[in-house]
Amino acid sequence: MTTTSRPLPWTDDVEAKQPHEDEHVRRCIDSMLRVNAMTFDRHRHGYRATHAKSHGFLRGTLTVHEDLPPELAQGLFATGGARHDVVVRLATESGQLDDDRKPNARGLSLKVFDVEGETMEPGTTTQDLLFNTLPVLGPGTAQKFMELSEIRERHFSDESAMTAEIQARPDAEQLTSFHRLVGNIHPLAHAYYTQGALGYGEHVAKIAVRPGTPEQEALAGREVTDGDDGSVLRALVESWATDRETVFDVGVQLRTSEDMPVEDASVDWSQEESPYRSVATIRLPPQQPYSAARRVFGDDRLAFRPWHGLAAHRPLGSVNRLRRAGYEELGKQRTDLNAVEGTTMRSASELPD
Ligand code: HEM
Repeated sequence: MTTTSRPLPWTDDVEAKQPHEDEHVRRCIDSMLRVNAMTFDRHRHGYRATHAKSHGFLRGTLTVHEDLPPELAQGLFATGGARHDVVVRLATESGQLDDDRKPNARGLSLKVFDVEGETMEPGTTTQDLLFNTLPVLGPGTAQKFMELSEIRERHFSDESAMTAEIQARPDAEQLTSFHRLVGNIHPLAHAYYTQGALGYGEHVAKIAVRPGTPEQEALAGREVTDGDDGSVLRALVESWATDRETVFDVGVQLRTSEDMPVEDASVDWSQEESPYRSVATIRLPPQQPYSAARRVFGDDRLAFRPWHGLAAHRPLGSVNRLRRAGYEELGKQRTDLNAVEGTTMRSASELPD
């Protein structure tokens, strides 16, 4: 294996379609559609197939750092000082409205408006980036994600049977890491990762957002306890964001070694070999993150799409290829069930106050 601290180029051969991939994609989406329909029957309301329970929605800006070195000044981050409006949604991974005291991966969705350059879907003008709290995605291929989805479907109403089936598998550790949460802490104190790889202009990378001020990092000391309310995460976001600025640093981990696979998102890319390097700052001024109007718009109508973005940041690997149709079909099911018109938004001002 060649190892170099210089970023490797993005060439066609970083991706390799997996055996039976089309079948795995179809089976996975079909299974998730059936689960989502069962969730609807439970609540008589359509939710996201994953990340159903939101904790807050924030509007602000992303500013690209000045004077980035050429390998980092790529795609969305090509122009130092460029400033874009953004919308952020915070949520928990599960497709159910779980109790926040239950540790489960948390998610952060970012939509960057008015990006410049060739986009993957004609007519879109946003760069959507989705993040979870672990650096890796346990079911890191389309096949593994399908297998996990089908297990979830088989045991929709019996969590202990689902756990037993997963635990009996040789890859149990990998599959359960999907939900793993290291520290059930304040949602604004986590680091969030794309987990899968994406194009980064001439290179390939993973991206992370991390708390951007010492005060926000210190929120990690606020752990969720049994004495908290089941929706404490929304209350924590509200109590911080209503009168304080929320800041996130955007960091990029460039692919510098062939030991950093693209087709298997369950493999951690060494941060010693290639640390996350800061490229931009997200600033979200004080605001009310969970008004009724925001919740209804953000939960029922708003859609983030990993494939809405610049061609320079095309999502890579089989889990990401699975996501192209996955989010479209499951997102449409959600809006159809609620008889509302979905939107991927054209301006941050569409987010109600
Ligand atoms: C690669 C790592 C992944 C990350 C970091 C990730 C993260 C997220 C996040 C943060 C959301 C919430 C989006 C929102 O706020 O609207 C979400 C939603 C969703 N994810 Fe993923 N996800 C990943 C992989 C996958 C895979 C492999 C699938 C399989 C199809 C999938 C299916 C979905 C679906 C269906 C939704 C809801 C779409 C909607 O109703 O609009 N995700 N994901």
